[in-house]
Amino acid sequence: MTTPLADFLRAYAASGTARLHMPGHKGRGPLGCEAWDLTEISGADSLYEAAGVIARSEENAAALFGSAATFYSTEGSTQCVKAMLFLALQNRPAGTPPVVLAARNVHKSFVHAAALLDFEPLWLWPEEGTSSLCACPVAAEGLDRALSALDAPPAAVYITSPDYLGNMADIPALAEVCRRYKTPLLADNAHGAYLRFLTPWTWGRTSPAIPPTRPCRSSPAGRICISPKPPRRRFGRTPGRPWPSSGPPARPI
Ligand SMILES: Cc1ncc(COP(=O)(O)O)c(C=O)c1O
Repeated sequence: MTTPLADFLRAYAASGTARLHMPGHKGRGPLGCEAWDLTEISGADSLYEAAGVIARSEENAAALFGSAATFYSTEGSTQCVKAMLFLALQNRPAGTPPVVLAARNVHKSFVHAAALLDFEPLWLWPEEGTSSLCACPVAAEGLDRALSALDAPPAAVYITSPDYLGNMADIPALAEVCRRYKTPLLADNAHGAYLRFLTPWTWGRTSPAIPPTRPCRSSPAGRICISPKPPRRRFGRTPGRPWPSSGPPARPI
């Protein structure tokens, strides 16, 4: 597999080019890695409109992690969690309320996203016999019951898998329920980045996915969503659709 981004960084660091651009350390400093810390200069591609080395690296990562697509992000899993929720809300059927059905053990980034995007969380509580909120097992039957009790499908169903204790949800079974209700399944996979490299590989094998994953900690930042349909646009507001909140965010994610 090629390493386009690393190759570019190495070549630029070795070129001795005068750095008349950000960041201010100019490629030197106590950490030793400053030479590879670049901004979006010519040839380095652009994170949110990737068409060069970043796009090629994302394609490689998608092949490596077995995902339909990979998009690099700043700000760890938190940013990815917000982005996937934003996309799910943006793509919900016209006229449906901004509601997300979420297992109660969400990370606080989900709660922050609820405040930022102005959606209402409906909680899926742990099933009988589970005493810890760190674990919130959701079975397909329980999810089916919760969805059938709603007037309209939520903008998304949201789970954390693996959770903080290493428990894994049955993603294919939950995805199947979500498909029936035509709602995307979003999975915060912050703790599961490297599951792909276990044998046997069990994570979400049967499902298209938008997971946020975090390669630099325990995992790729997060697998975000198992969607019944692909997002219509990668970024920004879909023309003709209102923002999911009463007022637009200061800046589109
Ligand atoms: C389940 C889960 N989701 C999201 C996050 C946020 O990750 P980050 O700190 O990379 O933004 C964390 C952080 O620990 C987490 O445990």
